Amino acid sequence: MVGHDVPVDRCFSRRGLLVAGGAGVGVVALAACGGGTDVPELTGVGPGDVVVPLSEVPLGGAHEVSVDGRRVVVSRPAEGTVVAFAARCTHQGCTVRATEEGLVCPCHGSVFDLADGSAVQGPATEPLAPVGVAVRGTDVVLT
Ligand code: FES
Repeated sequence: MVGHDVPVDRCFSRRGLLVAGGAGVGVVALAACGGGTDVPELTGVGPGDVVVPLSEVPLGGAHEVSVDGRRVVVSRPAEGTVVAFAARCTHQGCTVRATEEGLVCPCHGSVFDLADGSAVQGPATEPLAPVGVAVRGTDVVLT
């Protein structure tokens, strides 16, 4: 694999907002964003379960979580819009990360759109697979 020197944060915003904080929600242990390298792990979750508090998904940015061992990026491209995608790059399967530049694959540099997961820069040409989420109260939940 070819590595690119891409700055990585679990949470990012095009406005440069990093959301710090943590919360325990059911079986979810959420670490603070912007520090460390761990991604919050969720296990044994299903429809209706909390993925992340909405306040931890920055407007114009994304938040990474792991759902039953599968990395997911939850993005908030606009106020009132939250979507999520499997973070498995559609080029050769590397893990896409939330960076200051967007949803970026560190292996060969593909970039994916925050709003619809489409490939905006190759070599990937196919969009990221969607993950069903919705906003329920102050939380983002699986659907
Ligand atoms: Fe090649 Fe992601 S695996 S760009």
